[in-house]
Amino acid sequence: MASVFLSTLFILFLSSSIYARLPYTSPRPRHVRIDHHDVDTHSDIVVETPIFSWSIDDEKCPYNGTLLRGIQQIAYRLTVAQKLSFYSPKQTPLVIYDSGRVLSDLNTNVLYNGSALTSDTRYIYSIQYWSSTGAASEIITGEFRTALFNPKNELTASWIGSRQINMNELRREFDVPQSILSATVFMSGMGYGTLYINGINVDPSRRFDPGWTTYTQRVLYVSYDITQFLKGQSTNCIGVQLGLGFYTNEQWGGGVPPPASEVFGPPPRLLLQVNIVLNDHTTMNISTDTTWLGREGAHRKDSIYMGTFYDTRAERYNWSTAGFKDPYSLWLNASLIESPLSSPTGQLTYQSMDPIRISPYALHIATSASQTGYRLMPPGVNGGNVMNGGIFNATPIPNQQVPTYDVTQNIAGYCTLTITGRKGMTVSTRHAELLDKPGEDGIQYQGLNSANYQIITASDDFIIQGNPHEILEPMFTYHGFRYISIYANYINIESVVCSAIHSETTLIGNFTSSSLVLNQIQHNILWSQLSNIMSIITDCSQRQERRGWLGDAALSVDVALFNFDLYGLYVNSLRNIADVQHADGSIPDTAPFSVGGYVADPSWAHAYPEITWRIYQHYNDTATVKEHYIGIQGWVDYLTSRAQQGGLANMYFAYGDWETPVHYPVTNSSLVSAFSYLSDVQTMITLSKVLNNQTNVDKYSKLYNQLATEFHTTFYNSQVNGYAEGYQTANVLALRLPNVVPENLRASIIKSLVDNIATNNNHSTTGIVGTAALFPVLTEAGYHDLAVTIATQTTYPSFGYMFNNDVQNATTNWETYHALIKGVGGTDSLNHHMFNSIGAWFYRYLAGIQLNGFNEDFIIHPRLTTLLTNVDAEVHTIKGSIFVAWQRHTNDNTVTYNVTIPHSFYSIITFEPMKPAARCVSIEESGIVIWQQSSSLFETNVNGILWLRPDSIIEGAISARIAGGSYQWKVQWN
Ligand SMILES: *[C@@H]1O[C@H](CO)[C@@H](O)[C@H](O)[C@H]1NC(C)=O
Ligand SMILES: *[C@@H]1O[C@H](CO)[C@@H](O)[C@H](O)[C@H]1NC(C)=O
Ligand SMILES: *[C@@H]1O[C@H](CO)[C@@H](O)[C@H](O)[C@H]1NC(C)=O
Repeated sequence: MASVFLSTLFILFLSSSIYARLPYTSPRPRHVRIDHHDVDTHSDIVVETPIFSWSIDDEKCPYNGTLLRGIQQIAYRLTVAQKLSFYSPKQTPLVIYDSGRVLSDLNTNVLYNGSALTSDTRYIYSIQYWSSTGAASEIITGEFRTALFNPKNELTASWIGSRQINMNELRREFDVPQSILSATVFMSGMGYGTLYINGINVDPSRRFDPGWTTYTQRVLYVSYDITQFLKGQSTNCIGVQLGLGFYTNEQWGGGVPPPASEVFGPPPRLLLQVNIVLNDHTTMNISTDTTWLGREGAHRKDSIYMGTFYDTRAERYNWSTAGFKDPYSLWLNASLIESPLSSPTGQLTYQSMDPIRISPYALHIATSASQTGYRLMPPGVNGGNVMNGGIFNATPIPNQQVPTYDVTQNIAGYCTLTITGRKGMTVSTRHAELLDKPGEDGIQYQGLNSANYQIITASDDFIIQGNPHEILEPMFTYHGFRYISIYANYINIESVVCSAIHSETTLIGNFTSSSLVLNQIQHNILWSQLSNIMSIITDCSQRQERRGWLGDAALSVDVALFNFDLYGLYVNSLRNIADVQHADGSIPDTAPFSVGGYVADPSWAHAYPEITWRIYQHYNDTATVKEHYIGIQGWVDYLTSRAQQGGLANMYFAYGDWETPVHYPVTNSSLVSAFSYLSDVQTMITLSKVLNNQTNVDKYSKLYNQLATEFHTTFYNSQVNGYAEGYQTANVLALRLPNVVPENLRASIIKSLVDNIATNNNHSTTGIVGTAALFPVLTEAGYHDLAVTIATQTTYPSFGYMFNNDVQNATTNWETYHALIKGVGGTDSLNHHMFNSIGAWFYRYLAGIQLNGFNEDFIIHPRLTTLLTNVDAEVHTIKGSIFVAWQRHTNDNTVTYNVTIPHSFYSIITFEPMKPAARCVSIEESGIVIWQQSSSLFETNVNGILWLRPDSIIEGAISARIAGGSYQWKVQWN
């Protein structure tokens, strides 16, 4: 009764706040995010810090139906109330926060400003905004609940497991005396845990929780709302299956041995607590303790690296239901076992990032394909359509001795087999990225080529039940592969369906162009990224690495954030880095640390400042900058102390310009390290500006100026008129750094670079660090056509070579250009994301979308080239959607631009001359000529266009400042 009464009150409270409606159709807050969880894709939102973002809706003119431009938010109202079914009538107040009508255009990262929320509590929020058209938006409401704010005290459960048996299946029955109002699980199963209640898997798309961390230091816990799964006034059963995941010394395999203090797992272990609110508002808990029973389940072995061994005969179907009896297996009481958090400063932290999920639940689509339903890939592009849910019917390859199937796309995931055979028979699978060379007859393939798996078997073994159409799938492992061989003698293989797995994310970016090569590179970028977001940013998806190599993460973060919504994953990655930073500021090559140097190569730990800065650029997130500012400063100061030891000339390094293509010279590695160091000092200055820390702006600017001079005097080599030995990377990196190359030398250094590229038949010869800088440097130096030429090459060494060679048409980016060159490589990964950096240049230069932190106008500056007739790009930012589509029309010397920028924001768009020295003849917008050669440029507000002027920097270009909305430009040149 009480709750019905109160919900009526709450609705009344909300309705009273609706202001008189204007004749406009009522807009609504779009793309609402709480703590950066998008409410459109997340049904159960758990927060630690409630931060709200929303974007401003389109509004139509009420008289003629056209979309309005220049809509600004003028005010908002945000409320938070405790959810009514939990609300006891004696407690006040009902609404715990009401911002009132706040006059502000802020609609991203809006902080909840009310009294402290309580742990494990359900809340209802409402958001409304008012726009400059006079419209009041609809009030939208939704729910969120809170994590545990003090898990150390609030989780009274104990870690349990067994040192006697491989206890990976645990259960506990318990009585619930009344009907319930809510039930919430908080759990951490080391390495991975899956939750069952009363025989039902609570979320079957999640098997890989929690994420991989430095377990001694930080263990993540997850939470499930199980209110719908528990039965009141009844006996219930909770069951958990555990896998080892990365909670095993195998994570050190092939690398350095683990420090003795950090040896962990097996055995697997579990921490779990159910908090139940009963109908009379009293609470009860069920926690892991020695009353739990456990046994070794059907998983006899599970390893991320080596695969699983699964004996279906040991499956017990009702094992997680109340009243289950099992006379055949050995169920023992669980024992108390050490917490993985052996460090005194170790913390249990809520896993706020999205979990790893199994397709089709892993990827959401926010790009135009989701609205138009047009889900085809650009014509001619090879591989699996990212929009199709990540599920593939693998096709049998003819003429194989062992049945072998092609997924047609290199993925990280697993296959589900449907088979019919006799009880006790075995099925084994092996995976590979490559097929072996054809046999003598040129047709018969000899099976898989798994040389590049190095010490990894990537195989799963099953003993089958013998039921018709039996389904087999590995549970706690994943493989990076395109092909699967199935060893199943006298067994009928009925289907092989393979699913991608990765950290759940949303596709927010789309880039297509008139170049098939660029479109295939974009495709390969998407899949390499998806294959390597596994709670951490792994370097590769298949061999024994799959570790948090920081160099790879640093190089791909910008493009990753253009293509995918990955806020939580990167924020978590930054914590993983902070967890392994030493007191002297040093950081290892990998985080969690499992291999590489403990002090990283400067270009590897560069990930720390770089990821922080990119998170800020893409999400306007100052909180993350604050959280890591001191740590980043520690790293920069550490580098300064190293640089002072022998000068930049002797700057230490481990990898230099890694994966410089074979047969090409490698740039001086100290120069590469010095470049990353100077970049970090630059980022330190930028982040100090974000935080208004003028003292540090001055301090690090002074340092940078000294270093810029030192870089030039140390590495400039007049004999080659370039830096170091004059190779491409050296000149590119010097040009990329502000104020290193003196103005009087700039043109000739650029010429040296361009000449070197010409000598190499317009190919780049750069490794991973040089490649990331090469394309922006050439474009900004006025050699955009050359940059496009290099990007669209298909002969070695180039991106296009990966899908134009006589071995395999790549569907993901490779680790090296020479991965499949005969006589070289052979052990390199075919699914790596460190070369993805080129994709940032697609968005920032080809489409011209310069995301820069949302504190100044967006710069939209598409770079034209005669080598492309059109580019189409979109990015769905937290502020709203950006579209840029340009097309060159040589028949009438015009370039058309369809551009949309978010409401409540401004942009400066630049129209470049269609060809060198061309003069602008006229500019039309939505079919109306707004400027002609004879007329003067204007500075008044014409339907969203605030001004139109000659560009202050680019000769002949015209720029316009525009308000939020959609524009169709047609610019004619002579
Ligand atoms: C629609 O009406 C708006 C406002 O009255 C006006 O600015 C705009 O030009 C009109 N558009 C058309 C296509 O008539
Ligand atoms: C990407 O853009 C192209 C061209 O506009 C379109 O055909 C395609 O559907 C879009 N893809 C996605 C995933 O939005
Ligand atoms: C970005 O964040 C800052 C606060 O850190 C805020 O002042 C600014 O308005 C935000 N920009 C946008 C476009 O919301």
